[in-house]
Amino acid sequence: MSEYDFDRVIERRDAGSVKWNRYPSGVLPLWVADMDFAAPPAVTRALQRRVAHGIYGYRFAPDSLAEAVLDHVRDRYGWAIEADWLVWLPGTVPAIHAACRLVEPGAPVLSTTPIYPPFLDAPRNMGRALVKLPLIRGGGQDVLDLDRFEKTFTPQSLFLFCNPHNPTGRVFSEAELTDLAECALVGGGLIVSDELHADLVLEPGLRHRPLAAIAPELAKQIITLFAPSKTFNIAGLGLGYAVIPDAALRRRLEAAIAGILPYVNVLAYDAVEAAYREGRDWHAALIEYLRDNRDRVTDVLGELPGVKAKPPEGTYLYWMNLRGTGIENPVQHLEQQGVGLSDGAAFGAPGFARLNFACPRATLNEALQRIAAGFA
Ligand SMILES: Cc1ncc(COP(=O)(O)O)c(C=O)c1O
Repeated sequence: MSEYDFDRVIERRDAGSVKWNRYPSGVLPLWVADMDFAAPPAVTRALQRRVAHGIYGYRFAPDSLAEAVLDHVRDRYGWAIEADWLVWLPGTVPAIHAACRLVEPGAPVLSTTPIYPPFLDAPRNMGRALVKLPLIRGGGQDVLDLDRFEKTFTPQSLFLFCNPHNPTGRVFSEAELTDLAECALVGGGLIVSDELHADLVLEPGLRHRPLAAIAPELAKQIITLFAPSKTFNIAGLGLGYAVIPDAALRRRLEAAIAGILPYVNVLAYDAVEAAYREGRDWHAALIEYLRDNRDRVTDVLGELPGVKAKPPEGTYLYWMNLRGTGIENPVQHLEQQGVGLSDGAAFGAPGFARLNFACPRATLNEALQRIAAGFA
């Protein structure tokens, strides 16, 4: 038995939750990537200590946090990075937008589809040309279409990559990443590798490997994004970081965000350091709980006619194809049944939906019952 109580149902509607307050009270929200679990106790203790200080002025990132990050990235992903390579961010979506400004106006910005919606919005918002690279089926999996990538990835372009992949939950293998890196080196454009879900690998035997670690030769081309926000459920604290080994590229991103992004929240630094330094047991228990939740979803979806879905290797997001249900707007239909899912249309895949299973088992069971009834 875990000493952490992931079964505990915590009321969130009275806390102005983006996730919960989007819907009327009869709907269980299983959409945005935000978990219904309390953060690790060490995080809350660190915040309480910082709040007690009473002064909340602008603050640099402490060296001790950089050390915690270096240890985390080395121990978890086998990548030895340096403190100088880090750029602290109050959120990673603004950095994705800023990265679009590193290529010329109108230049191609490539993104796999389906994909986390800001990848589709950022190029458009920044006046660049979105080029979609649909994932294709290979060996029963969603895989990158490297032929198409090779044809479109030029020195003028930017590729927005996501691994582990939101929404499919793919954890790309070392072999797949090596092939991608080879093509990327030849193509010569820039890459943003968003690896925010790196600590949420659920499949035993799989390990997250950063693209930049697999191919150090890509250093001049690659910006890797990480954040503890998904792993430790602290997205509202607003802290992420870019790892950019190449000094010139780092300066370009820093120039692109200067004056646009504020300093990181003064409280977030302590919370993140505590999470990385003291959150390991909590994290291990979380992964077990999420794995069980994932398997429960697999069992239920497997029984539903017209629903096609593959268990995610990573993330706490379940991507499902509902086109075979014969229901015209399945997400709206499920909302009427009392379950709020993310609509695949926003990810570039109408007729699909994404279910967030990072919630107490009682909530998940109730939602699954409603889904089953809705498709019965
Ligand atoms: C792949 C991916 N990148 C970036 C983000 C944004 O995270 P944050 O708000 O912590 O910067 C999310 C959030 O869901 C995500 O799934």
